[in-house]
Amino acid sequence: MTFPAIDRRGTYAVKWEERSVKFGSEDLLPLWVADMDLASPLCVQEALIARAKHPIYGYTVYPDAYYEAIISWMERRFGWQVEREWIIPAHGVVPSIHFSIEALTQPGDGVLIQTPIYPPFIASVHKHRRKFLENRLLYHEGRVTIDFEDFEAKAKEAKLFLLCSPHNPVGRAWDREELQEMIRICRQHHVLIVSDEIHSDLVYDKRHQVMASLAPERTIVLNAPSKTFNIAGLNTSFAIIPDRRIRKAYYQEQRSTGLSSGNPFGIEALIAAYRFAGPWLDEIKVHLNNNIQYVNECIVQHKLAIIPAKTEATFLVWLDCRGLGYDDKALQDFFIKEAKLGLNSGSDFGEAGSGFMRLNIGTSREVIEAAMTRLLDACRRRGLL
Ligand SMILES: Cc1ncc(COP(=O)(O)O)c(C=O)c1O
Repeated sequence: MTFPAIDRRGTYAVKWEERSVKFGSEDLLPLWVADMDLASPLCVQEALIARAKHPIYGYTVYPDAYYEAIISWMERRFGWQVEREWIIPAHGVVPSIHFSIEALTQPGDGVLIQTPIYPPFIASVHKHRRKFLENRLLYHEGRVTIDFEDFEAKAKEAKLFLLCSPHNPVGRAWDREELQEMIRICRQHHVLIVSDEIHSDLVYDKRHQVMASLAPERTIVLNAPSKTFNIAGLNTSFAIIPDRRIRKAYYQEQRSTGLSSGNPFGIEALIAAYRFAGPWLDEIKVHLNNNIQYVNECIVQHKLAIIPAKTEATFLVWLDCRGLGYDDKALQDFFIKEAKLGLNSGSDFGEAGSGFMRLNIGTSREVIEAAMTRLLDACRRRGLL
């Protein structure tokens, strides 16, 4: 199967339409916001077209098929047995992070987060006036690990741990031992866990471990088919919460916001994807992993002063650009003005991301080759090669 980049003009795609807002220029290749320039699976397209042919798009319930599709996917992909009543349909993982914080903590309570991190994590803690407790990930020559001593010190003050598993932006798929150690500490200090697993289908060479399968008594898992099948615009996600008391608290919070009935297109897409798109997912993972390896090899071959973190999951590559010798502003300027590439600045992911850039390789091989050519040419012009 080939994965050509699709022209997204005319579809109001954030990645393309907001180039001016984000980078102050339209004249660049956008490799930032975390969706892909690649077509969703055919079975998803067909399900959406079939639904669109019915001319009424009113309030919609979540049918049995929706729950069955999630349960079967979790079992097949991760070996995790989910009970139907644990599943709470939602309209986005980020909204669910907010509901979880409201449901499980009080103003002033500590929320533990590993940084650098997808920006809404820290923003949600500040918005609800909770205390942000930072556990900086350790970074050495492309390898990211956890500072457990610091994690435990912060956990003593925390009510909630917001985990990103796999981790955006560093691309780690946490090992079972690492998750077990996080759980041990959280149990000891009575810390509940919200595990954002939106990138869990995109783990390359190991099996994703669902946090709630290891610590069902204290974990809310948030997931969605949105990253996996490139359907983020359908705003369809879910929480899975094995513990009855935690589930009730979360559910009441979400319900109080008025977000109850489902998006008819999101429901159809989820069912089709989880039922039929497993083989497509296996193929696109090969494609994405090849793009990642290409970027890595290109950097090594040309002796660029950039170190890519080992990407175990996601279509996002975390680039250590400190060797280029720029501060954050100059680094972003170099990418935008000299290389004409629109990446996320590492500093958007917290202070721990300073000196890094995040590259989205969720596109065709040709686009990634063009991007690397632009980067190499820019380095040559600046005397960095
Ligand atoms: C870790 C993580 N969580 C959540 C989201 C967004 O989820 P949603 O669109 O369902 O709110 C993203 C998108 O980039 C993400 O990377």
